[in-house]
Amino acid sequence: APQPSTSTPAIIESPPEMTHSFSVQPLNRFRGASASIKRPREVAHFSYDDNHEYKDDESGINYYIPPPMGVDMKEGFETFKHYEEKEDLHLDSLLQALITKERKEGKEKRVQGDFVTWRGMMTKIMTAPFDNFAEFSMFATLHDGTIYIEEDFPSRAAERAAESSRPPPRHQHPDQQSREMMTYWGYKFETLSLIPTPPATTPREEIERHQRSVVSNYAQHCSIVNTSFGPHSLILGGEVDGLLAPKPTTDIPIPWVELKTSEELPPPHLQNHRDITKFERKLLKFWAQSFLLGVPTIIVGFRSKSGVLRSLQTFGTQDIPGMVRRGTGVWDGNVCINFATEFLGWLKDVVQGEGVWSIRLRKKSGVVEVRRVGEGTGAF
Ligand code: A3P
Ligand code: MG
Ligand code: MG
Repeated sequence: APQPSTSTPAIIESPPEMTHSFSVQPLNRFRGASASIKRPREVAHFSYDDNHEYKDDESGINYYIPPPMGVDMKEGFETFKHYEEKEDLHLDSLLQALITKERKEGKEKRVQGDFVTWRGMMTKIMTAPFDNFAEFSMFATLHDGTIYIEEDFPSRAAERAAESSRPPPRHQHPDQQSREMMTYWGYKFETLSLIPTPPATTPREEIERHQRSVVSNYAQHCSIVNTSFGPHSLILGGEVDGLLAPKPTTDIPIPWVELKTSEELPPPHLQNHRDITKFERKLLKFWAQSFLLGVPTIIVGFRSKSGVLRSLQTFGTQDIPGMVRRGTGVWDGNVCINFATEFLGWLKDVVQGEGVWSIRLRKKSGVVEVRRVGEGTGAF
């Protein structure tokens, strides 16, 4: 396993005039055809085992099977094995996988990118134009011509601690579920829908045994892709939920599937504009997350307010922007892509020389602020 690095960048005060700002609004400057995008191609992968230990293999790959309807997804909540990052692991496992690849295949096959980061960071950047409440805090450092971007782990950990110590509201609606329960549903849905061996060759009893097993998010499989936004190349790593068919051996898109849960919509005659807007806003996150790693299919499990799995809907990732454009129009995929492209270009101009940089979007501010906050590389 890679050595986790625990230090965080030393904060140095820089004068306010050193803050560089990139305005999100007005969005009109990002409209029109999208910047050219290269289809993401997998360049490396890794897994985490049942103890969340790094494995240089495909052991964490799962296969999709249709889950049974009517299951109360609260089942087994008491035994939920919930992994949460306790220390700052920076980009360690992503970089470990790239190093392993280079050792195996030689320096000539080395993958290069203008940016290296987790897919989650790019999702936050891409979706910011259509989420007024979006906020993020990241660090960046330039090394050998590549800008590495990581999450501001100390801030995120402090936020999580504050959230979990906040008492639940005194007047709670009976349908209101705890945050932990809502998180559990997401992983329970995955457990009901994923098995570690191809379904065609897995006996029925084996499948059912897996569907009833303890829900845990310790094991994972992560795909690392090479992609580009306009002239900017990126290496992105992120978790993939499962495969719809065996992994191809040729250079065609990998049939990954992203699983999501969402509250069921009222029946069509009772639906109002707000219900649909709420769901289409959610689709922005689903789309961006899957688009970035080249995940072609998203399967949404609709649940009741109290967590009973009711129905499934399959979405082609690339069909989603058009659906929303013809629907409520609450977001525009081309704007997301063009915004991200412009932002990355601007970041290249700002993040120059040595040091650690803070990249920050405050809620409702509409401005991404970047400033140099430390020396060295902050243990990236
Ligand atoms: P849902 O997305 O169905 O709610 P992912 O969808 O990215 O594969 O993540 C799997 C599950 O992890 C989610 O299922 C959710 O339960 C939990 N999860 C992911 N990101 C989260 C976040 N920011 N806050 C709370 N739970 C999260
Ligand atoms: Mg997942
Ligand atoms: Mg998922």
